[in-house]
Amino acid sequence: MRILAIETSCDETAVALIEAKGTYGTDFAWKTLGSAVLSQAAAHDKYGGVFPNVAKREHGRNLTPVLGEVFRQADLLDTPSHISETAIADLEETLAREPDLYTYLSTFLRSTGRPPELDAIAVTVGPGLEPALWVGINFARALSRVWNVPLVPVNHMEGHIILSALCGQDDGTRQKAKGKSLEFPLLSLLISGGHTEIVLSEKWMEYSILGQTRDDAVGEAFDKVARLLGLPYPGGPHISRIAERVRNVGAHTPIELPRPMIDSDNYDFSFAGLKTAVRRMVEAHQPLTNETRDAIAKEFEDAAADVLVAKLMRAIDEQNVETVLVGGGVSANTHIRRQLARALNDSGSRATLLIPPPELATDNALMIALAGYFRSMNNEFASPESLTAQGNLKLA
Ligand code: KG4
Ligand code: ZN
Repeated sequence: MRILAIETSCDETAVALIEAKGTYGTDFAWKTLGSAVLSQAAAHDKYGGVFPNVAKREHGRNLTPVLGEVFRQADLLDTPSHISETAIADLEETLAREPDLYTYLSTFLRSTGRPPELDAIAVTVGPGLEPALWVGINFARALSRVWNVPLVPVNHMEGHIILSALCGQDDGTRQKAKGKSLEFPLLSLLISGGHTEIVLSEKWMEYSILGQTRDDAVGEAFDKVARLLGLPYPGGPHISRIAERVRNVGAHTPIELPRPMIDSDNYDFSFAGLKTAVRRMVEAHQPLTNETRDAIAKEFEDAAADVLVAKLMRAIDEQNVETVLVGGGVSANTHIRRQLARALNDSGSRATLLIPPPELATDNALMIALAGYFRSMNNEFASPESLTAQGNLKLA
């Protein structure tokens, strides 16, 4: 099966094309034919976070060039297409609410590429920012009509889980799990800009949520703390770089931040208090020197990692799991990866740990293509009219 995937749930415009066959756990095999991600970070930097209408506008402008890049990688730009004017008129109607998208896509379809051989178009329908999700959905609908290919809706968080299951590495560097069948029960720690969840799976693609954040997501806390420290958006990678440097040189500014809910008898998280503690710390240290800023960044990262590790280890202990997956943008974080691997190792647990390589931890469309493949295998297609953006879509 060939699956084209579209991802626009937040501030990354992403398209991927994969070829996959078989059933998970037996004869599953796949390859990436093309995958491209365009980050809008620069457009959102001045707001210090993702601004939904800017995201919508940027997706409208970027989707077609990103699709073009995937076609180029997949060698699909060779023959001129013969798209009919009726199809173009139909496209205009489908994209009545997305004039930018119509302009770019109609030009692209008139000038480049034969209709690709596709079995499904997978598109993220949630969770995420609804104005952003809608652009991807309308784009997928338009392509589905023009090329006569069925649509399959995908949950973004399932995308993160399936990507970790298929591309994860045991400690971020060694053995790959690619295609290998995993042992269940399986526990997923999902850590991204919008989510912090511990999810239990008794079977492949079945989920129950054990715990989640009661306020901010951990990635959101990284981004907000970075803003308080005067660092650019998205803040995660900047905090991580500074904190690693401080660990290497050993800074001595004494900074102590709380570890919210670390001992609470559940799997829930809370990061808003940690962010507020950073705000107070910054206010108490005006004018903020680089040394204090760096010490706060490191202590914040330590606090976030300690809480994530403690909650995940509690769940591993109590749920008797065989496999632990970590997914979402924050799983790109070097310190968090190292601490999770260390804690699991020290615990003597037999569970296998899988973390995606850093470049696949943050949002991309490969994860949507893989989840879309398995949902297509279950025949979970949807008509173009029935698709809607579901900002709060849940895994279970
Ligand atoms: O999964 P993702 O790309 O988008 C969402 O679905 O939200 O996650 C984005 C989040 C952002 O908050 C970003 O700051 C964070 O992941 N992030 C990191 C790192 N790289 C990205 N956080 C900590 N350390 C990193 N290296
Ligand atoms: Zn994500």
